[in-house]
Amino acid sequence: MVSSKVDINKLRESERKFGKSHHRYSKEEVPKYRFPEKTMDSRTVYQLIHDELNLDGNPDLNLATFVTTWMDPEADKLIIENLHKNFIDHFEYPQVNNIEERIVNILANLFNVPDKSDFIGTSTIGSSEAIMLGLLAHKWNWRQERIRKGLPHDKPNIVFGGDTHVSWDKFARYFDVEPRIIPIAKDRFTIKPEDVLKEVDENTIAVGVVLGTTFTGEFDPVQEINDLLLKLKREKGLDIPIHVDAASAGFITPFFEPGFEWDFRLEQVSSINTSGHKFGLVYPGLGWLIFRHHNLLPEELKFYVNYLGDEMPTYTLNFSEGSSMIIAQYFNIMHLGKEGYRQIVDRMMENASHLAARLQESKEFHVINDAKHIPVVTFRFAKDEDFTLFDLSYRVRERGWIVPAYSLPPHAEEVTIMRVVVRENFTRNLVDIFVDDLLNAKRALKTGSIKTSQRSAREGHPVS
Ligand SMILES: Cc1ncc(COP(=O)(O)O)c(C=O)c1O
Repeated sequence: MVSSKVDINKLRESERKFGKSHHRYSKEEVPKYRFPEKTMDSRTVYQLIHDELNLDGNPDLNLATFVTTWMDPEADKLIIENLHKNFIDHFEYPQVNNIEERIVNILANLFNVPDKSDFIGTSTIGSSEAIMLGLLAHKWNWRQERIRKGLPHDKPNIVFGGDTHVSWDKFARYFDVEPRIIPIAKDRFTIKPEDVLKEVDENTIAVGVVLGTTFTGEFDPVQEINDLLLKLKREKGLDIPIHVDAASAGFITPFFEPGFEWDFRLEQVSSINTSGHKFGLVYPGLGWLIFRHHNLLPEELKFYVNYLGDEMPTYTLNFSEGSSMIIAQYFNIMHLGKEGYRQIVDRMMENASHLAARLQESKEFHVINDAKHIPVVTFRFAKDEDFTLFDLSYRVRERGWIVPAYSLPPHAEEVTIMRVVVRENFTRNLVDIFVDDLLNAKRALKTGSIKTSQRSAREGHPVS
């Protein structure tokens, strides 16, 4: 949406300057995999790329993604106006940096930091970077403490469930930490608190808890895990931090269930990530990482950039980064306020409940998660069919809907489900049209030609 606006303006300008394209009747071959030797008219190139991208799915009908596909026109305007600003250039663009700082403050308060003057946070490219950075700090803190006590520090481990996003496995592998993965089961898709307790020991750098799992949208039992870790701290002196992966819930729960304690109100919760580009309602890529206390981010992990004579600390994996999405996040927060976010979240939750109810009423599907905490609905066939959910996923694509089917992670891999993320622009009207299309597609599979295919969640695109 954004880029086409920019391109159209540039196109018009170029048309005024150079007149019509000479390439309309061109027979020249356009190289795809090698650097072209010659220049090509910008309008021709625009058209070539534009036409090819028409083959992409329609983002508004993409029920697979958690990521925002629509923003206010005023947000689009700000995004375009700031596309050319590199966020890391704090000296040149001090205001963008100020805006980032304001958002970190806003989120730290939204997540109920105990001390309003003692927290630290940063923007990231997404939740994956935020998770890596959060866990890296915990690894560092664990090691420093072990060194201080003269204890071995060569075997760090991290405890999380099989229901976590792949970024948790990535962290363990990239940063050389033993992953202790608590299995889910074929009738339970989140972790049990007592299983956490079995896995933790003096080498545990952190426990991971997911609020809004990628697979079913459910919550790990954060309060119970916190209570057990608190007990462990009091009885055995083992102080193990919790990192909450609130990639999805971070911008939902504070508005939908403000009384639900999941954040820094829980004593062991030390860091939280959330995705600005999911229910923060900003386009990709933007994530946030907030630490409960300033000193949880070790000094050695901060790098300093020069800013108006001052040294500004940064904590990111990437150096250069766009400014637009940070500004867009600020726009949403200012424009919507808590009232606006609450209204949008309520509408999404209502539409998700409506979707779940219609699927259940059809008796064709069994609903696994009816959007209890976040607007995600997961379901499977009510009874065995001669075709699979993968077939249904392909079939319903004929109407433009992109809806993923996938098998669950190890220990529940025989369970195949479908997932719909109900975003702001998936209105009640569209929900009804979608359910009708889904039921029609299922009927057609029963009577028409059947093509069976298998795809696992870890293999392809569906689970993002
Ligand atoms: C629970 C969870 N954590 C982390 C991520 C990764 O987030 P991002 O795509 O913002 O890097 C996702 C993505 O869907 C997710 O669902």
